[in-house]
Amino acid sequence: MIEVEHLTKRFGATTAVDDLSFTVRPGTVTGFLGPNGAGKSTAMRAIAGLVRPTSGTTRVNGRPIEEHAAPLTEIGTLLGTPAHPGRTARNHLRALAATHGLGRARVEDVLRLTGMEAVANRRVGTYSMGMAQRLGLAAALLGDPHTIMLDEPINGLDPDGIVWVRHFLRGLAAEGRTVFLSSHLMSEMAQTADHLVVIGRGRLIADAPIAELLDGVGETRVVVRTPDADRLAPALAGRGVTVTSVAAGELEVTGIDAAEIAAIARDHDVLLHELTTRTASLEEAYLSLTDAAVDYQAVPAAAAR
Ligand SMILES: Nc1ncnc2c1ncn2[C@@H]1O[C@H](COP(=O)(O)OP(=O)(O)OP(=O)(O)O)[C@@H](O)[C@H]1O
Ligand SMILES: [Mg+2]
Repeated sequence: MIEVEHLTKRFGATTAVDDLSFTVRPGTVTGFLGPNGAGKSTAMRAIAGLVRPTSGTTRVNGRPIEEHAAPLTEIGTLLGTPAHPGRTARNHLRALAATHGLGRARVEDVLRLTGMEAVANRRVGTYSMGMAQRLGLAAALLGDPHTIMLDEPINGLDPDGIVWVRHFLRGLAAEGRTVFLSSHLMSEMAQTADHLVVIGRGRLIADAPIAELLDGVGETRVVVRTPDADRLAPALAGRGVTVTSVAAGELEVTGIDAAEIAAIARDHDVLLHELTTRTASLEEAYLSLTDAAVDYQAVPAAAAR
């Protein structure tokens, strides 16, 4: 369990995290989502005790991180601090294990768990991005922690690696562990997380199950193609229904479903060529949530010239 209460972190004039509160619960995969610069890494580093909050508190498994005698056994983290490039993975993990009185057998366990056995005696400096990420995961799992917090664990992985990490994290959550991972990509989260904490400019935007976020944001639209649009549009319009003419013979309708539209069309002797329900994608939901909270908005290519 991770609890964040009124966390604020300022770096000089920059407010990286702004009065942020949320709880990450066991047994689920919780995604931490926000545009670049939103404050995800800063919040995670504060939870791990690597950044001193300007104000507010964070707790891991019920206590501030510094009150845990053996933090590695409470929370496993992947926070982009790479292993020494000249060391082998096995030696890196052994050194880490020694700081917590963990035996060499546990090192072999995590090497096996993360599929690292074959490369464990190679120097970390020669690793590909995917191998380095696996090593980071192995280190996070070393203390068999109940809580796992990973900053952008999918970054730089190939499709096989992504699928592997996804299954791996879901497995950890199924064991009842708390799994918290960040990403700036909604599409990635949609397939990995059950619950999302969304932030923008350091502030909380949403904290809800993925399904609920989808319900709350983008409305379901029905696209109607008909040669009788001029007669259908006024027949559909009514309380809570919006009808927009998007092209000749094409309407976009929200507020009633396809079956109701079909029934109204029949009653008015209107011929339908197409009736398509479009549910807002998670990506659209995310964009509409974070629209006002993007620090670095790309200029459209045409305008930049
Ligand atoms: N050590 C630091 N000193 C000064 N400013 C910092 C420091 N660390 C982060 N910031 C600033 O705080 C803000 C939040 O940064 P942070 O790295 O937490 O964002 P993020 O959500 O992890 O972004 P990304 O998706 O790019 O990883 C940014 O404006 C960043 O420039
Ligand atoms: Mg970051």
